[in-house]
Order: sequence, then C-alpha cells, then structure tokens
Amino acid sequence: MRANALALAGPTFFGEPSLKTDRADQDREKAFALARALKTMGLLAFAPSPSDLAAGPDELARLVTASAGTPLSADNAGFLRWIVRDMAGVKVGFVGVGPSPQPREAAKTAVAAARTEGAQVLVVLGSVGRGEAKRIADDLPDLTAIVVGSEASVGEANTLAPPIERLGDVLVIETGNHLQQVAVLDLWVREGSFRFAADGTPPVQGSFSRVSLVDVHERMGKDPEVRAELLSLYKRIDDRNRERFRDRLPRPSAPGAARYVGVEECKACHVGSWKVWKTTQHARAFETLQSAFKGHNLDCVGCHVTGYDEPGGSTVGHVERLEGVQCETCHGPGSLHVKTPLDPSLLVGKPKPTRCLGCHHPPHVEGFDAETALGRILGPGHGK
Ligand code: HEC
Ligand code: HEC
Ligand code: HEC
Ligand code: HEC
Repeated sequence: MRANALALAGPTFFGEPSLKTDRADQDREKAFALARALKTMGLLAFAPSPSDLAAGPDELARLVTASAGTPLSADNAGFLRWIVRDMAGVKVGFVGVGPSPQPREAAKTAVAAARTEGAQVLVVLGSVGRGEAKRIADDLPDLTAIVVGSEASVGEANTLAPPIERLGDVLVIETGNHLQQVAVLDLWVREGSFRFAADGTPPVQGSFSRVSLVDVHERMGKDPEVRAELLSLYKRIDDRNRERFRDRLPRPSAPGAARYVGVEECKACHVGSWKVWKTTQHARAFETLQSAFKGHNLDCVGCHVTGYDEPGGSTVGHVERLEGVQCETCHGPGSLHVKTPLDPSLLVGKPKPTRCLGCHHPPHVEGFDAETALGRILGPGHGK
C-alpha cells in the first residue's frame, strides 16, 4: 500500500513581506493561480511565513480555500498547529512552525500533541530559516524530517539548495527558493518500526527512507490543467495591466537631455546597421512576449523593450515605437543626435559590455559571455 502527500514550508504565495503598489494586482493573480495549481497537485499542508500575509489575513484565507491545503502554525493562534493523516495505514503528523519568539517551544508542544493524537511519523514544516530548523531538529530527535523554509524571499535571484543533511535521525530538507525544486521523501515502513534507516542500500530488515531533490524545469512538461491555468493567468494579467497602466506616460527627459525616438528614425540614416540589427533576436524581443500574452507583464517587459521606465522612454502602458531591444538600448537616447549627427558627444558610440549585463543576467540568463554575444549582434554594416 502506498500514499502520497504534498507539503510546503513557506513562503508559498508571496515572496516579499509587503506588496508593491504597482505589482499588487499581478502578484495577487499569480498567488491565486499558484493556489489553484497546488490544489490540482493535491496540497495537504503548508507552514505560512510572514510574507504569505503580504496581502492581509483575509486574502490568505481566500488563498487557502483556493489551494485546499491546510495552513499549519504552532505559534499563531489563527491556524491549526498540527494535523495527523492516515496514510496507507500509518499515522503521519505534520506540524507547522513560523518565526515567533519561541519557535522551538511551540514546535515541541505541537509535536507532543500530535503524538498524543497517535502520530507515528512526524514531519515539521518550518518557515524559520535553516539555523532555527536545525535547533528544532536537535530538540526533537524523534522527528522523521524537518522541511526548511524561510520568513521571506526577497529579490529575483534563485538560490541553490544546500545538500540534505541528517542530524541524528532527523532529515533536514531544504529546497531552492521560487519552488524550483521538490524534495521527494519516500518512507518504507516495515515490521511496524518508525525509525528509518538512512539513504543508501535498503537494510534487510526494518524501515528505511530515501530522499532526493528534484529540479523543476520546463523540460519536465506541464500538467494540462496547470498549463491552462497559467495561460489564463497570463492573459488576465496582460488585460488588467493594459487597462491599469493605460495612462502611465514616460517621465519627460530633463531639459536639454535626449529622449528616445525609436529605430525607424535611425534606420533613415543607418540602413546598414539596421539590416544587421533586424536579423538579431533583439528586433523580435517584444513579439516574443506578446505571443505569450506577456507584453504587459511587469516581470518581463522591462528587458524586452527600449528605454523602459527611463525619462523620455517607455512604460508598461506605452512602448509604441520602442518595442524590442532597439539601437537606443545600447547607444542611448537619440533625439539630440538625430538633430546634430556630427557631434559624437550626443550618443554612446562604443557601448561597453557592462550595458549588456543590465538584461543578460541570472536568473533568466545564465553564463552570458559578452565577447561571443557581441559577435552575434555586430556584422558588416554594424560595427564590423
Ligand atoms: C539624419 C541622419 C541620422 C540619423 C537620423 C541618425 N544618425 Fe547616427 N549618425 C549619423 C551620422 C552622419 C553619423 C556620423 C558619421 C558616421 O559615423 O556615420 C552618425 C553616427 C552614429 C553613431 C556612431 C557614433 C560614434 O561616435 O562612432 C552611432 C552609434 C549612431 N549614429 C547611432 C544612431 C542611432 C541609434 C540613431 C537613432 C536614434 C541614429 N544614429 C540616427 C546620422 C544619423
Ligand atoms: C534591454 C535589455 C537588453 C540589453 C541591454 C541587451 N540585451 Fe541582448 N537580449 C535581450 C533580450 C530580451 C533578448 C531575447 C530576445 C528574444 O529572443 O525575444 C536578447 C538576446 C540577445 C542575443 C541572442 C540570444 C543569444 O544569447 O544568442 C544576443 C547575442 C544578445 N542579446 C547580445 C547582447 C549584447 C552583446 C548586448 C550588449 C552590447 C545586449 N545583448 C544587451 C535584452 C537585452
Ligand atoms: C532581466 C532582464 C529580463 C527579464 C526581466 C526577462 N527577460 Fe526574457 N530574456 C532576456 C534576455 C537577456 C534574453 C536572451 C537570453 C539568451 O537567449 O541568451 C531573454 C530571452 C527570452 C526568451 C527567448 C529565449 C528563450 O529563453 O527561449 C523568452 C521566451 C523570454 N526571454 C521570455 C521572458 C518572459 C516571459 C519574461 C517574464 C517572465 C522575461 N523574459 C523576462 C532578458 C529578460
Ligand atoms: C545590443 C546593443 C546594440 C544594439 C541594439 C545596436 N547597437 Fe550599434 N553598436 C553596438 C556595439 C557594441 C557597437 C560597436 C562599438 C565598437 O566599435 O566598439 C556598435 C556600433 C554601431 C555604430 C558605429 C559603427 C558602424 O558600424 O558604423 C553605429 C552607427 C551603430 N552601432 C548604429 C546602430 C543602429 C542604427 C542600431 C539599431 C538599428 C544599433 N546600432 C543597434 C551595440 C548595439
């Protein structure tokens, strides 16, 4: 007999502890899409972190309903502290712990209570960071595993999970941020024992466990329901942001400073450079987004258009003439150059590779090599 459960240590729905005004709508939409996807995947329980409350307790309650999972927190009176589930005849207890003045005490009390209710196997979900999680593991040597989350996940960079550790018999399991990895913990219960021998060759007798980290990436394919959910999410975000940012015009450029004019103007005098540029992916960068309903997506648009959020440039609501990565991305805004072409001080004649790094950086782009990349955007007529 076998049974599965999906459980998470936070942050689950929101990475950062507070929502930014412009992004609030989009981040909420995303959180609900995630909640529905987690429901499709059969979420059992999760430990909310402070950032899961970024949109307030009522919104978290709605997200919980949408996800059909149970929020667990040993130290927050608003939530259940533990649950015990019968899984293939074994009673498995899950306890959630969040940051609080006494997370270790809270964990101890909740674990003891779950034991009283018959839990034979215990897993703690800790949105508390690794140090605290390890202290909890030290205090509670008869846990099977503690899943390490954190209070918040700030910034866009992906983190790499440290290897799975064993403290005594307790597995300390941490995954990368942004739901990039899933830890798969298999428990084989034999002869009624709930002490699990470590990974490796299964022992001849007794119970044992196996644990591994699985990377989540595009090549894995997508569940059709989740794929449909995401597509409708992107369309909704696109429509809403198109409306919402309709009136957001670019800030004007400072008096006497250049503004962006768009590639059509440059083409008039630099048809050779234009022909080369037109063959590069830069020329199609905005279509790439549009074809995926992401032309107004705040996560994407900034690097796929020209002069984004710059004076005299573009905004999420106004990219006309500046779609894609155009000349002025690298050479700077061109209105003054267009008027006085022979004054070389009015333009960036030789863009430095550091300009490329403004967009070609992790996590979206790994291993960027400026020399090789320059070779791909230059050619006879454009800098060669
Ligand atoms: C009215 C014609 C005209 C227009 C429009 C024009 N340029 Fe130029 N550009 C020139 C001339 C003339 C030069 C100087 C001679 C040369 O290098 O070809 C020049 C030079 C340049 C240089 C080399 C500067 C250097 O210091 O080596 C770059 C880069 C450049 N232009 C980019 C652009 C961009 C980007 C646009 C559109 C925003 C643009 N130009 C629009 C005429 C024009
Ligand atoms: C404003 C952001 C931005 C800047 C700055 C930028 N790029 Fe890009 N670059 C992009 C985007 C977006 C794409 C992908 C476009 C697509 O496929 O839709 C891209 C694609 C490329 C590609 C094709 C993909 C590949 O890796 O072969 C090359 C080459 C490239 N850029 C080189 C450069 C170089 C060299 C610089 C600096 C001189 C630079 N880029 C600056 C945004 C930027
Ligand atoms: C930090 C800048 C940046 C942001 C933000 C960004 N992109 Fe890109 N994107 C790039 C660059 C640079 C490339 C070129 C990468 C390469 O091929 O080397 C690229 C390439 C792409 C490509 C074509 C190459 C591929 O990977 O298949 C797609 C599709 C794409 N981006 C979609 C998106 C979407 C969707 C978002 C928002 C979720 C997004 N991008 C956000 C900079 C960015
Ligand atoms: C991704 C960055 C990037 C984009 C986009 C780009 N350029 Fe350039 N451009 C460069 C670099 C890098 C050089 C070479 C500078 C050097 O010689 O070191 C260059 C050189 C030039 C030169 C001077 C050399 C020559 O061949 O005359 C002109 C003019 C020029 N670009 C115009 C354009 C125009 C017009 C466009 C748009 C149609 C454009 N560039 C788009 C990066 C870019």
